[in-house]
Amino acid sequence: MTSDLLAPGGRLSVGWPTLPGAARTPDRHDGVVFAVDLQPGAVLRPLEPWRAEEFLTNLDRCRDYIAPWVGPSFVATDLASARAVLQRYADSQARDTGLILGIWLADRLVGGVMVVAMDAAAGTCEVGCWLEPSATGRGLITQAATRLIDWLVRARGIHRVEWQTLAANEPSIKVAQRLGMTRDGVLREAIPPRPGRSERADLEIWSVLAPEWRLHLPDTI
Ligand SMILES: CC(C)(COP(=O)(O)OP(=O)(O)OC[C@H]1O[C@@H](n2cnc3c(N)ncnc32)[C@H](O)[C@@H]1OP(=O)(O)O)[C@@H](O)C(=O)NCCC(=O)NCCS
Repeated sequence: MTSDLLAPGGRLSVGWPTLPGAARTPDRHDGVVFAVDLQPGAVLRPLEPWRAEEFLTNLDRCRDYIAPWVGPSFVATDLASARAVLQRYADSQARDTGLILGIWLADRLVGGVMVVAMDAAAGTCEVGCWLEPSATGRGLITQAATRLIDWLVRARGIHRVEWQTLAANEPSIKVAQRLGMTRDGVLREAIPPRPGRSERADLEIWSVLAPEWRLHLPDTI
């Protein structure tokens, strides 16, 4: 291990997918280097294509819950399409245009956060999330997104982090508010009807800028 990888106090300090404040979890065999503790029993770690089966099982538990709110291409229905979703994120990570991290609660993949798109040169990105119903209401997404945004702003130098949500998605809007984001505006009827719906939907754009983030969270996690 190079000396710049492990900062004083055992905190992992550099290199994707290491996040600020990542702690070593000596009793874990997988993800030991890259796991970040969010809460007791809850960890954040890369969600790579080899975990497609776990991802599909997670989606099976939350497909109906998340389908109205996330892009249809994310909601895989079989192993091949689940692997394709994760491979798309792996490819975007390799191109430095995105990434996906999973949240495990009691060793079960329950959701995650992602960089949907990133333009590092322009200093802009969009982040997103999903969670299965049994894991909601305990702050996991707010905590995971906080880790991710802190890394994007402080380690990657991203200036503008965007959050796009359907206007009717109250839980998602509350996450944006908890992250200290500002509602930039509404793209009226920007989203075509989702399966089972006949009407188009409004899309809200929320964002936090780097100086605002540093005020929201004065110290690196
Ligand atoms: C959006 C979504 C991820 C939000 O899930 P969530 O559990 O409400 O969000 P968090 O993990 O941040 O938890 C916040 C909730 O936990 C509570 N909470 C408990 N401990 C907390 C803590 N330490 N920190 C923050 N919140 C905490 C909060 O009060 C809040 O509950 P409330 O809304 O009843 O007040 C979830 O509803 C979801 O997956 N929806 C479907 C997919 C989706 O909409 N994705 C986003 C597309 S834009």
